[in-house]
Amino acid sequence: MVVDNKATVTYVQLLKEDLIIIRLVPKEGSIPEYKAGQFITLGLANPVENGKIVRRAYSIASHPENKDYVELVVRWVRKPLPGRLTTQIFGIKEGDEILWLKPTGRALLINDELPNGEKDNRRMVCIGGGTGLAPFVSFAQHLHDIGDKREIVVLHGASYVDELSYKDLLTSLENDSIARGKEEWNFKYRAAISRPQEWFNRSWAGQVGRVETFLRPRDGGLSPLEELVGDKITKENTMFYVCGWQGTIDGVMDFLNPKGFVTEHGKREDGSFEVKYESYG
Ligand SMILES: Cc1cc2nc3c(=O)[nH]c(=O)nc-3n(C[C@H](O)[C@H](O)[C@H](O)COP(=O)(O)OP(=O)(O)OC[C@H]3O[C@@H](n4cnc5c(N)ncnc54)[C@H](O)[C@@H]3O)c2cc1C
Ligand SMILES: NC(=O)c1ccc[n+]([C@@H]2O[C@H](COP(=O)([O-])OP(=O)(O)OC[C@H]3O[C@@H](n4cnc5c(N)ncnc54)[C@H](OP(=O)(O)O)[C@@H]3O)[C@@H](O)[C@H]2O)c1
Repeated sequence: MVVDNKATVTYVQLLKEDLIIIRLVPKEGSIPEYKAGQFITLGLANPVENGKIVRRAYSIASHPENKDYVELVVRWVRKPLPGRLTTQIFGIKEGDEILWLKPTGRALLINDELPNGEKDNRRMVCIGGGTGLAPFVSFAQHLHDIGDKREIVVLHGASYVDELSYKDLLTSLENDSIARGKEEWNFKYRAAISRPQEWFNRSWAGQVGRVETFLRPRDGGLSPLEELVGDKITKENTMFYVCGWQGTIDGVMDFLNPKGFVTEHGKREDGSFEVKYESYG
């Protein structure tokens, strides 16, 4: 039988009517151990199902060094029917109780070692679609805290500018990289807005289209990602991490497959691969 732990919701930030950031603190004991890229399972008793507990997975956006709270970013699923758990999460207030199961997940752990035992020093490109950014917010804060020297690029795709949920945090991490120099902390953040024609997005001056368009070469030349890093992306120099809709994973692989990249799921006989992903649809 599953034994749920209890937590208090200590912070609720409604970014828009269907996007929320929440923080949890266990009622007993300390913040659970987890690795950047893992997810936690939340649960709430559903009154319309005779109190049956509905549990769902949420990627952790906070980082393991943060011992104050666990942070999540959640989309309210509205269509075709209101989601069973998210509809309840959007009614939660600071001080309310929520159930949780310990963090887990292996799909998006940071790769530190190559199959030959050498340190993995490849550039890390992290591509998040919508709330699929969450694991990379954890990555970025964790790698910053431990002083990792790899080049890290975080790319976020969203439909609307007000869904760039971690723009301030990720911009400040990039500013820190500029201030300290890339030998100390080598970090870049960019976003793509997929509905640029909509009035609400009229102030957007950055990349347009879905996030995978960062990989599309311009007129047979370099892609926007290659222009950003100032280097040709090859399977020898770059490791990709992708989280989002299956369409986002497929869109990324459409650009990477012809370059010989393989995913961890389809790794070569020698154990090598260049892409890790987690999809949700
Ligand atoms: C590893 C992992 C990490 C995740 N991380 C996050 C995260 O960080 N943030 C986040 O927002 N989500 C995340 N998710 C998704 C999350 O786990 C839930 O799936 C999501 O929040 C929806 O839950 P729900 O109970 O509200 O919806 P559900 O009730 O499970 O509904 C799911 C879908 O089915 C539809 N549906 C339900 N019942 C019916 C029906 N009878 N007929 C037709 N359609 C129906 C709903 O409209 C909805 O589209 C993650 C998922 C995984 C697997
Ligand atoms: N680790 C995980 O598995 C995980 C983590 C976080 C969230 N989730 C789940 O993700 C769900 C929805 O995510 P979201 O609401 O954050 O995404 P979203 O805002 O609807 O979409 C984010 C971006 O992805 C694009 N997109 C939408 N559908 C796509 C498709 N089929 N193929 C390629 N691109 C697509 C959107 O483009 P358009 O503007 O063109 O639509 C937008 O640019 C949540 O409800 C949750 O269930 C899972």
